[in-house]
Amino acid sequence: MSEHHTADRASLAGLQAAVQRCVVTACGSTFGIRERIYVCSHCGGPLEIQCDFPSRAAAGSLRKQWEARAASSDPLDRSGVWRYRELLPFNAGAPIVTLFEGNAPLYEAPRSAAYGGLSSLRLKHLGSNPTGSFKDTGMTVAVTQASLLGAQTVVCASTGNTAASLAAYAARADLQCAIIVPRGQITTAKLAQSMDYGAAVLEIEGNFDDAMRIVQQLTADPSIYLANSINPFRIEGQKTVAFELLQQCAWRVPDHIVVPGGNMGNSSALAKGYYELLRLGLIDRLPKLHVVQAEGAAPLARLFAEMARAQPRDTASSFPDRITPVEHPQTLATAIKIGAPVSWQKSLRGVLQSGGQVLAVSEQEIADAKAIIGRDGIGCEPSSATTVAGIRRLVASKIIRHDDSVVAVLTGHLLKDPDYVSHYHRGTLALPSGGDDRAGTGEQIHGAFRNPPERVAASKDAILESLDRRRRGNS
Ligand code: F0G
Repeated sequence: MSEHHTADRASLAGLQAAVQRCVVTACGSTFGIRERIYVCSHCGGPLEIQCDFPSRAAAGSLRKQWEARAASSDPLDRSGVWRYRELLPFNAGAPIVTLFEGNAPLYEAPRSAAYGGLSSLRLKHLGSNPTGSFKDTGMTVAVTQASLLGAQTVVCASTGNTAASLAAYAARADLQCAIIVPRGQITTAKLAQSMDYGAAVLEIEGNFDDAMRIVQQLTADPSIYLANSINPFRIEGQKTVAFELLQQCAWRVPDHIVVPGGNMGNSSALAKGYYELLRLGLIDRLPKLHVVQAEGAAPLARLFAEMARAQPRDTASSFPDRITPVEHPQTLATAIKIGAPVSWQKSLRGVLQSGGQVLAVSEQEIADAKAIIGRDGIGCEPSSATTVAGIRRLVASKIIRHDDSVVAVLTGHLLKDPDYVSHYHRGTLALPSGGDDRAGTGEQIHGAFRNPPERVAASKDAILESLDRRRRGNS
């Protein structure tokens, strides 16, 4: 192991007692925290980690401690995940694998606010993480657990970002890494990252949901560790985004948090994070958590709408025991092209607890929202822009009010999918059409905020003339 690796691996002080618990209320089985298990071995339900929390009295000092750590040079304090280690399930001496993830900025976004119908809007940009997406906040924890368990190989199914993140953290930890991806459906940039970080890039014929099925079968092999968000350790890392965001808001709880939804790990994690802060007495109410999907890949939005129709007043009283998958999910926001989300129960539970909504937006709405976020000087991937498109709808339907405090969580960086951006601005963005499994509608996107390049003569006058014309166009 190189010196560099050793320097970035640090040890935790402090000791957290914790278990893995089945979230199915009728089961509730618990398992040891170092048991290599991904779903409940009794009922097959999803697991979550339950830490033995500090008392409410002791929790009061956590805020100050966390704030002080932001200025420290200790590698664990510099990580925006391990800074919150009192609420993570690791003992002193754990070999932490970190790339200094987290520390994601919170921006004011006035143009996006006006577009959405709000007086102000803040964007939490997780695309600033080391591999360009929010996955890093969970992967630092999952790969640390993989090292502790002595795994040889870490694997994941992915639409691209989980793969890039796992590949990077596995490289830091000196673990073999295999990523299973649907062939031809991952952006060039994301695939390039996984290749460069040395992962085995295994492309299958099929979609993300097929890849997810295969990796779950692979876990029968004890040398293999699964790093998808079905693994509750991923969620533990990602929940710290809730802590960092609250700290950036000076502990004033926003009225609404809006996130994209794909496999539903992110929304599950944020819900867990806010719920833990509430239990600790660090906040006195939950922000409403809203999840936005793309219309062509919206199984949870569909389920939510069915629940609302069946029981308009009290959706929380009858929790559904299954979700109907979307068999051929379709969206240009490839990161969230998922028809059978593995963490739907935890996500839905969190949305209902907070009084939020699950909704779906069109390809056109996603594309235009993305361009508007760009005009605020903030670059995100298409899936992230579902948030601002969703906010516009929620404001129009008066679920969010004009003056409410709202944070949209952007999950990936613009450079993850530059082809999409280029097609949008050049007027050539369209869903694929055809007759096979990946068939789309051929729907053409008409960018309301197109900004294509212009060919100009190589002269000062031609350039000044173009600038002048544009100024007049804007006035
Ligand atoms: N945004 C981006 C940029 C993503 O990469 C993903 C998921 C999501 C949103 C949705 O988050 O799954 O937690 O609900 N990407 C996964 C992947 C599926 O393989 O990279 P989620």
